Order: sequence, then structure tokens, then C-alpha cells
Amino acid sequence: MSTPAVPADIPVFDGDPFSMEALADPIGFDGRVRELGPVVYIPKYDYYAVTQWDEIQKSLRDWRKISSDDRPFYEPNPYRPKVLVLEDPPSHTKNKAAAMAVLSGENLVKFEQYFAVEAERIVSDILANGPAEIDAFHDLSARYVLKVFPDMLGLPEEGRELLLKFGDGVFNVFGPDTEFQRMKLAGAAPAQDWVERNSYRDAQTEGTVGWQLYELADAGKLPEEDARQVLKSIFAAGFDTTTASIASMIRALADHPDEWAKLKANPDLVDNAWEESIRYYPASRFGGRYAKHEVQIGENTLPEGAKMLMMWLGSGRDHRKYDNPDTYLVDRDLTGGHLSFGFGIHTCAGNLVARLEARTLLKELVKQVDTIELTGEPRQAMNYQAFGHEYVPVRLTPKAA
Ligand code: HEM
Repeated sequence: MSTPAVPADIPVFDGDPFSMEALADPIGFDGRVRELGPVVYIPKYDYYAVTQWDEIQKSLRDWRKISSDDRPFYEPNPYRPKVLVLEDPPSHTKNKAAAMAVLSGENLVKFEQYFAVEAERIVSDILANGPAEIDAFHDLSARYVLKVFPDMLGLPEEGRELLLKFGDGVFNVFGPDTEFQRMKLAGAAPAQDWVERNSYRDAQTEGTVGWQLYELADAGKLPEEDARQVLKSIFAAGFDTTTASIASMIRALADHPDEWAKLKANPDLVDNAWEESIRYYPASRFGGRYAKHEVQIGENTLPEGAKMLMMWLGSGRDHRKYDNPDTYLVDRDLTGGHLSFGFGIHTCAGNLVARLEARTLLKELVKQVDTIELTGEPRQAMNYQAFGHEYVPVRLTPKAA
């Protein structure tokens, strides 16, 4: 089938959003593309980037036209099976209901209590001997996330760190086939085996999230294989994202001591501070879609078959939506929301869990920590689709007893 002509009024960007230069600074890079127009054509890979907040949000209201059934760079593979984020209703509706059933309600109440106990324990342990110099990614964020959520999922202690490797593979699938991608996917291969093993029915412990998904299958709510794939989606999306966002939040707070002081003076700002952190540093750079029919996005008409990326990361810094978007403010008015968890029927299934995890840890930091100072240069991870920090060296000084 021949590729439909690119509409004349859509700006064309000749650069490469997947170059090492772009991955080293996606906020700057995607910001420059965003300013070319709300929809920008990328000829190198033949897709349209939907770049500005309003147009992303409006276009995601209509999944019938803007479908998740296909997208740039997609071939079904073990990292990205055709489930949830890669499907439309009716199968999406059934699978999303199952995911939401196990990631909300009673389970959240159970999670909340456990997260609080572990957050208190981990922060107290870090500060046990006074000021502590740590890497906030490994020693705080990953330590916490890889403890609390796998416990709730009933995963074995051994091999948990592979969940981050698996996420790294998953979030490098949507991009061009390069040496970089091959290296990332090879690095994730052992994690793929571990995830497969732990996704089957016989690996689940009674009462855990995986167990409950298989119970839903037994009750006829979804096929057994879909229950397994939904569980794998939770493994795929539930760790890298939260770990990276918490590390990014610590970096933002270390970079802005006045904002940290504001938060300590008013702990009621914890929830807002977390939302601001993921507006400022979203964990997901984009989501893929395709035009099932000709679609209107703002002033632009895209042809049927057009493949698109919805650029969440750039939307968080869109000055049409936010005043001074490059400023981090724990008390920013965010009543208009953000798109860091996506929007529409594919809004993040784990957003309640991610929010609970991060807020619980931040509350504990506010309770126990006096100052957060950078002790070196933080390092942002290189990844096609995920965004976040993989190294955040800080000194945490405890509050005086
Ligand atoms: C800060 C942490 C997180 C961020 C920023 C994030 C971001 C996102 C985004 C942007 C989407 C929409 C993708 C799209 O429309 O193309 C999404 C979907 C999804 N997320 Fe998250 N996520 C996070 C944490 C989690 C966690 C903890 C879980 C599981 C417990 C999870 C599970 C999922 C699933 C299953 C979907 C697919 C939903 C659907 O297609 O209906 N996420 N996430």
C-alpha cells in the first residue's frame, strides 16, 4: 500500500528523535519539535508527532479514530504482546477492567498500609547514623519500589532487580532497529525469562495480584492467557516508571532547596509536589497510535493510516498550558492536570499504585529529612520511550531529634 501524502500545512522535521543526541536531552529536543507545530511530520520514520498539550488531550478522546491497534515501530514480540496498551475495545475493555480490579479498591488499602511501614523502615535505616550520602536511584527509589510492589505481587526475592532490566527492554521496543536497541534488548533477555516464569498460574501465591487475575479468569471475566498477559503488563509497566519518577523527584527537590523548604513547612503539599514532579519529569516520553480513519487534530487533517506518537514528555513543558513550565513549583496549581499518565481509555492502569507508592515515600522523607543536597552530577537514563534518572547522588541530612 502506498504511503498517503503528507498534508502541505504540517511542518516537517528532518531530525532524528531517536538519535543519541535526542535521547541525551529529550526535554530540550522534544520541546524544540513541539514549537514547530501541534502536529509535526517526521520523514525519517514516517510518523506524525502530536506535540502540544491540547491536541494530545483532545485527540485521545476518540479511540475509534485514533486507535492503539498499531503504531510506529511495532511488530508483536515477547516484550510487547498485543494486550492493553496495544489493543482497542472490546478486548481492551475486558483486560483493562481486570487490571483495574486488582490495582484499586481493597488492594490499594492493603498496599497503603504496607507501603507506609516499609517507607518508614527504609528512610529510618538510611538515616540511622546521621547524614547519609546515597544514590537516590539505587539506595532509595529502587530499594523501596523493588521491595514494596513485588511483595504485593507475591514475587520471589531472588531476581527482582531483573524487573528493572525487563522494563528497560520493554521501553526500548518502540524505536528504530539500531545497535543501541539491540544492546538494550540483549541486556533484557535474562529478565524476559524470569518474567515469563513468574507470570504463570502455578507461580502465584494465594491472595496476591497475580492470583486474583487468575481468579478473574476462572470466573470467566477474561481468558487465562489474557490474565497472564495483563500480569506481564503490570510487571512491564510497574517498576521502571515508578523507580525513575521517584529518583527524578529527588533530583528536582535537590535542585530546588526553596521548594523543599516550602514542602517541609507545609506537608499537605506532598500530593501536589509529586504531581508537579511527574509533570516536570514524566517517566514516559510518548505513546503510540494510528489513524483508523482520516482524523482532525487541531487545524490539521491526518490521512487514514497515519502513524502517530503522542509526546507526553514535551506536553508537560508546554507554555500554552502551564505558566513558566520549566520552573519546578511544589505548590503549582495543577487543577488542569497533566498527561504524564496518558489520557482517555488507556490512562495508566497503575496510576493509583504509582501515586500511592511515591506519595507515601515522599511523606516519610518530609517527616525525617532536613536537607537534600546533590553531591555530584545526576545521570539521566538513555531510553527510547522511558524518561528518568538512573543516578542521583545526594546527601540526606536527618531532622534534629
Ligand atoms: C510514575 C509511574 C508511571 C507512569 C508515569 C506511567 C505512565 C503511563 C502512561 C503514559 C500510560 C499510557 C500509555 C498510552 O496511552 O499509550 C500508561 C499505561 C499503563 N500503565 Fe502506567 N505509568 C506508571 C506506573 C505504572 C504502574 C505502577 C503500573 C502497574 C502497576 C502501570 C501499568 C500500566 C498499564 C497496564 C498501562 C496500560 C493501560 C491501558 O492500555 O489501558 N503503570 N502508563
